[in-house]
Amino acid sequence: MKTLIDSITDVVMQVFEENGYDKKYGKVTLSNRPDLCEYQCNGAMAAAKEYKCAPFMISDKIAEGLAGNAMFESAESVKPGFINLKISPEYLADFVSRMKADEGRFGCEKAENPKTIIVDYGGANVAKPLHVGHLRSAIIGESVKRIGKYMGHNMIGDVHLGDWGLQMGLIIVELKERKPDLVYYDESYTGEYPTEPPFTISELEEIYPTASGKSKEDAAYREAAMEATSELQSGRRGYRALLDHILKVSVTDLKKNYDNLNVSFELWKGESDAQPYIPDMVQKMKDQGFAHMSEGALVVDVAEETDTKEIPPCIILKSDGASLYSTTDLATIVMRVQDYNPDAIIYLTDQRQSMHFVQVFRCARKTGLVDDHVELKHIGFGTMNGKDGKPFKTREGGVMRLEYLLDEINQEMLKKIKENQKEKENLDISDDEVEKTAKTVALAAVKYGDLSNQASKDYVFDIERFTSFEGNTGPYILYTIVRIKSILRKYEQTGKTLPTEAVAGAHSASEKNLMLVLARFNAMMENAFEETAPHKICAYIYELANAFNSFYHETKILSEEDENIQKSYIGLLMLTKGILETCIDVLGFSAPDRM
Ligand code: ARG
Repeated sequence: MKTLIDSITDVVMQVFEENGYDKKYGKVTLSNRPDLCEYQCNGAMAAAKEYKCAPFMISDKIAEGLAGNAMFESAESVKPGFINLKISPEYLADFVSRMKADEGRFGCEKAENPKTIIVDYGGANVAKPLHVGHLRSAIIGESVKRIGKYMGHNMIGDVHLGDWGLQMGLIIVELKERKPDLVYYDESYTGEYPTEPPFTISELEEIYPTASGKSKEDAAYREAAMEATSELQSGRRGYRALLDHILKVSVTDLKKNYDNLNVSFELWKGESDAQPYIPDMVQKMKDQGFAHMSEGALVVDVAEETDTKEIPPCIILKSDGASLYSTTDLATIVMRVQDYNPDAIIYLTDQRQSMHFVQVFRCARKTGLVDDHVELKHIGFGTMNGKDGKPFKTREGGVMRLEYLLDEINQEMLKKIKENQKEKENLDISDDEVEKTAKTVALAAVKYGDLSNQASKDYVFDIERFTSFEGNTGPYILYTIVRIKSILRKYEQTGKTLPTEAVAGAHSASEKNLMLVLARFNAMMENAFEETAPHKICAYIYELANAFNSFYHETKILSEEDENIQKSYIGLLMLTKGILETCIDVLGFSAPDRM
């Protein structure tokens, strides 16, 4: 379905043309003076320069030409040359009715030419617990993926595990101290390795921090860990077998954690999966003259003349021949192109990794790892801060584990929902349901709190504010959905069925405003996809929830006596609910039935 704004623009452009002006001046925007009009066209101002006349002479003519059009309730020329537009309630009702009839899509068309887009997010490091730093990548990445899916693209999420670094060597060394007799350490062993892992997840989680701590005090220990890492990377059998165990145990645990966040991945690849692609890639870079030695390391220059700041060369191999984070990312691109031939790869990490991605992307293009048409995009997000404005920490000042953070919010939410229940004397709800509801609402609080900010900005993680039922919060959005669900339930309890009829023209200003906001859904969604901007969906549903609640407070819905008017109201409620639910699904959370 064509967007409302494009439909209006078409008409205005046509009138410009009919009056002998270039139609490009007919572009319409959302009004920035909602007290005066709903949409506006400022094109007469620019046209006046070309046609050398006063702007209002043009705006007068255009307004006159629009006057008879059924699309508008009014089209006014206002000095010095604005054209202020109000949509006719009938046209709007028809538009909204067509949206309602288009179930699940609400007038938003899927892409005609679906793209294959890989979203690289999550980025958990194996054997290390997830911490709040991984939260943003998971939340934003999941939403970016879902937005693309909704728009009809072939979206592939890849967790891209950190499974190739020093942490692996540390675990290998620490495990050897504890269980030196394990067969994995016997270099002369040639048989099959056991299928049972030599540790549990809780042991593994304790082994890594212990080893990491030791390596900071003990140089020889650190040396040994680096040696083990290097041996693992050059393919020592026993260590590869240990890596497989570490991976399996970690991934099981990670899946559980991501499940709790309503985050899931199509691919569970890791840095280690890219390793087989490195030798060929490096050889080609050398053969084609892109890679050269510099201070003992193999590098590719990626600086460009137009750079305003220094972009250091991309290091491909260190002087000892070891690969780096950049090497792995480049080889991962090779692997992805081979396996999926993607149109785009989107990466979500902390903003502090921007330079890394500038180097990697330039190197990939320069050395021909990707065709020109492949888009490589890094979305760097800001830091999640505590109320003190500093990076979020535990009360003791340590790095907060994700599980503990979520627990804390679940508890806070449970408290609030129980209070709410008492207030509303909704005491028939079982403890089980209350707990489930608290979890659902808590997740919405966390995700909305994050997603409603532009990704690149830092934000303050404020449990108090995020869990509030009022204001620009996840719980407020859910509360609005729950309110609509409850009205629809009551409507059906009176023996009526939910209407499939069209919605009638607006009966009040608040109803018209609700319709105007609803009508923007498809344009908003397209824009959120174009700009990879989940925060635009949040801003939209906040506006929609507000528009709905104003309408609700001013309108008697269940006691409306005119059946047709009531049906029309209920139709609007159904559409509002459908759009809100679609939007929160795309953001990665859901609403309970009551709360
Ligand atoms: N494991 C990395 C980290 O914890 C994030 C990986 C991001 N993805 C990538 N392809 N580099 O910082």
